[in-house]
This record gives sequence, C-alpha cells and structure tokens, in this order.
Amino acid sequence: MTKKNILHFQKLKDNGEKIALLTAYDYSTAKVLDEADIDGILVGDSLAMVALGYENTYNISIDEMLVFIKAVARGAKNSFIIGDMPFMSYNLSVEQGLENASKMIQAGANAVKLEGCNEHILELVKRCVESGIPVLAHLGFTPQLMQTIGGHKVQGKTRENTEKILECAKKLEKAGAFAVVLELMNSESAKYITENLEIPTIGIGAGADCDGQIVVTDDILGKFTDFKPKFVKHFANIHEVSLNGVKKYSEEVKKGLFPSENESF
Ligand code: KIV
Repeated sequence: MTKKNILHFQKLKDNGEKIALLTAYDYSTAKVLDEADIDGILVGDSLAMVALGYENTYNISIDEMLVFIKAVARGAKNSFIIGDMPFMSYNLSVEQGLENASKMIQAGANAVKLEGCNEHILELVKRCVESGIPVLAHLGFTPQLMQTIGGHKVQGKTRENTEKILECAKKLEKAGAFAVVLELMNSESAKYITENLEIPTIGIGAGADCDGQIVVTDDILGKFTDFKPKFVKHFANIHEVSLNGVKKYSEEVKKGLFPSENESF
C-alpha cells in the first residue's frame, strides 16, 4: 500500500466510486482505520466532545489538536490525514490561519479542514493551497457557527439556501479546496450541489448522493453513547463489548481467578 494523496479523492469521484472517510483521535483507532484501507482520516474537532467530554467543539485549542494529530499520524501510515482547524484558530487573520494550518501539517496532517466561505476563508484557502497545504472545505451546517445559526438546523431546505451553498462551494473549489464536506443537508440539495461541482462532496447527514461519506468513528462503532444523531448507524457496539469485558475482569479479580498461572511469572 502507498500513502494516499489528494489525487486519490478526485480519481474516485471521476471513476464514479464512493469515498469513505472516518474520524480518529488516537494511535490505536488510526491503526484500525489504516488497516481497513479507509480513504481518509479526519482528526475532527468533534474530539472535544467525543474524547474529552466537552459539551461542544468550542473548547479545543490548536495546541491540543496537535497532540491528537501526532498520535493519529503515528498509527496511520497510508491513510490521508486531515487536521480539523478548531474554533477561532483561523478567523482572526489569514496569517493566523496559515500559521496554525502549517502547525497541523508539521504535526503529521496531510491537509486541513476549514468551515465556511466568507472572503477571509476564501483568501485563506487560496494562500494555504499556494503554500502547499491542501484544504478540505466544510459547508451546510457548520458546528463552529452553531450559536449564530441557532442550533443544529438542517441546511438546503429552500432553493435560495441551496443556491447560496452551491455558490460558496464553487468559490471554494476555485480557491483550490480539494473536496467539500456537506453537513446536515437536505439530500436532494446535496445531490444537486454534488452534480454541479468538479471536486468531490463528502456528506455527513446529507444523503446517499454525495461523492463520499464521513462520520465519527466512535458514533458508528457504538462507543460514544451520550447521544445518537439520526444520520448515525451502528456498525458495532463497542460500549457493550467494553462494559462486559470490564465487568468480567472485575469479577475474576474479586474471585481470585485473574491472574492465573498463564498470566504469572
Ligand atoms: O469534527 C468532526 O468530526 C467533523 C465531522 C465532519 C465528522 O467535522
């Protein structure tokens, strides 16, 4: 297996093949995803909630993200690793964004992900790409803007809103983004946007017609159980397996069954 790069995603779209991305925050999970030959790994700022127990994604800093990116990069040798730029780590100025994006690349990410598409973001995407930093854009519902949006609102429900998102996606494509995440969107609208872009769309709660899908690994493996968004399907139940394992361990320790001869020196 060879290390994947941005051309891999465009090739899949051009061949009409789907793209499968997942999140990882630690070495062991990254190794599993790498072994499964997943197309790409996002070290998402969702780790603030999933790995650190915060209520939302506002409480994670660039320096904290770097620790997780380094761990994932040590575990995933062939997957394409995308570092998620956390809240306010790229909004103050293009220079601030460039500096923090370069820290992510130096920590082992192969690309960065940014939310939104105002003039500042478009300039930042352009400057990142010119500097050798691939960018994954993020439109539709953008969690870092949740307070100004007014909560988890499905996007692309009207023609006007869908056209606005498409216009944004086209600008990001022109600025050099290699793909765009479409989060929490009406399926028909996501399909329309996908058909009108050259670069791939990666959906999360945006229906089956995006070029690819991304979800939080801990959600689909049933490890994170605080809540389950409608767009999540459980492909395993790690919480139950772990709980049973921990109970069995505790029971055996208390009964004096563990450690046995096998585990002793
Ligand atoms: O932080 C995250 O995990 C994301 C999603 C797109 C999966 O941004």
